[in-house]
Amino acid sequence: MFTIRGGKPLRGITAVGGAKNAALPIMAAALAADSASVLHQVPDLSDVTTLSQVLMSLGMLVERRVDGTMRLEVINAQPCLADYELVRRMRASVCVLGPLLARRQRACVSLPGGCNIGHRPIDLHLKGLAALGAEITIERGYVFAQAGRLKGTDIYLGGPCGSTVTGTCNVMTAAALAQGVTVISAAACEPEVVNLGQYLNAMGAKIEGLGTPLLRIDGVDQLRGAEHTIIPDRIEAVTLIIAGAITRGRLRISGVCLEHLAGVLDVLRSIGVRIEAQGTTVAVSVPEALRPSDITALPYPGIPTDVQAQLTALLCLADGISVVTDKVFPDRFLHIPELCRMGARIRREGASGIISGVPKLSGSCVMASDLRASAALLLAGLAADGESVIRRIYHLDRGYERLERKLNMLGADISRVTDAPAHLPSSLQPSPEEMQQVNNDVCEPPPPKFLKLADVKSSTSYNILN
Ligand code: UD1
Repeated sequence: MFTIRGGKPLRGITAVGGAKNAALPIMAAALAADSASVLHQVPDLSDVTTLSQVLMSLGMLVERRVDGTMRLEVINAQPCLADYELVRRMRASVCVLGPLLARRQRACVSLPGGCNIGHRPIDLHLKGLAALGAEITIERGYVFAQAGRLKGTDIYLGGPCGSTVTGTCNVMTAAALAQGVTVISAAACEPEVVNLGQYLNAMGAKIEGLGTPLLRIDGVDQLRGAEHTIIPDRIEAVTLIIAGAITRGRLRISGVCLEHLAGVLDVLRSIGVRIEAQGTTVAVSVPEALRPSDITALPYPGIPTDVQAQLTALLCLADGISVVTDKVFPDRFLHIPELCRMGARIRREGASGIISGVPKLSGSCVMASDLRASAALLLAGLAADGESVIRRIYHLDRGYERLERKLNMLGADISRVTDAPAHLPSSLQPSPEEMQQVNNDVCEPPPPKFLKLADVKSSTSYNILN
């Protein structure tokens, strides 16, 4: 768990690492190559470690260097099973489905199962692969897919919540090795999908339309390994910008790809965060009070759902009422009750959180439920008065590389400690006087009030009592 002493304005310069959501599908796509690939700027995250284990179980040699370089080479093309024990730890393991099927003609991949950010089916992945000619069955919690050579076709990949990011990755990679032309419409336009497409093209694929909803893929007979650089992580960049803003600090963040952040920078500026860009470095400060906003998370180029929780944390301290809606994952709101424990005033209403800004948050003991929720709680803890504890920070380690170290270099006071009662800060325990007061209240309860049924029925609280 983390213990955080909040209320310290962050100052200094820091840098953004490689994008998790680009690295994972790209690593998986290396399964489709005939020779070794070398990737640069692969972030050091537990999700990358988990996928490396999945790939090793599928006959791949994975070599990682401390400088973020990774070499991937298939040394045994026989295995086709991605086991539940590994897949359940990380949904993105499903990205091996397309490359395995295209290159080895069969794949058996565990269904990823439930997730704290809501229902996450993979029906669109399966629909796309079936359209390419795969025979797909689901048995005992596994997807069994097999095919001869896949055949190019027209595929519509839109779903009820828009496009699918990893679904597009799976189908695009499979189509790269199919016979003939595939046209994917309603494809995801996220920069991470573009980065994967560029890697596939470097391997010899012929993909046009990257970054648009219409992809045209001319299938090729084989893909060779390639050298490729992972793009900067736009979600980490926004998280760091909000860390500067929420603590009212002054930060410079380097290695940012501004082109990927247009929508979210526009929103942050409207909230009152000053963001000045020079090349790939941004300077962050907050000259005045934070203003409320009305934000909707949408597929790219909209505001990413992966920063919805962090923006919610920031808006808790804005001067007025904000609305944050998530149209990509309409149930992704488990951070709301935890932020409320810190003094935030937020009401969940369907796919939205309605936030009444408060002047300050108060340090508390809270529980992380998923990756981005843990980032939101960490941000709130940095801004809050007093000490906070965030439990289950293993969620954070899935997607941020040594985030607490980066923040501590900027003046934050975050400690990583074993989750044990002895490590709970004493400031978060009630004082002896408070305990005494509580005990007195318990010993001397107020005299009971008995209501007659008639009084209850005539009162406005009748419906509540029923
Ligand atoms: C990816 C990202 C995740 C991000 C999400 C949305 C990776 C490794 N993860 O997840 O960080 O939050 O995109 O930007 O890149 N859907 C279906 N059927 C499907 C697939 C998806 O209905 O077959 C729905 C989902 O339930 C969700 C929406 O489509 O409502 C978008 O999901 P999707 O883009 O597939 O998310 P992931 O690729 O799993």
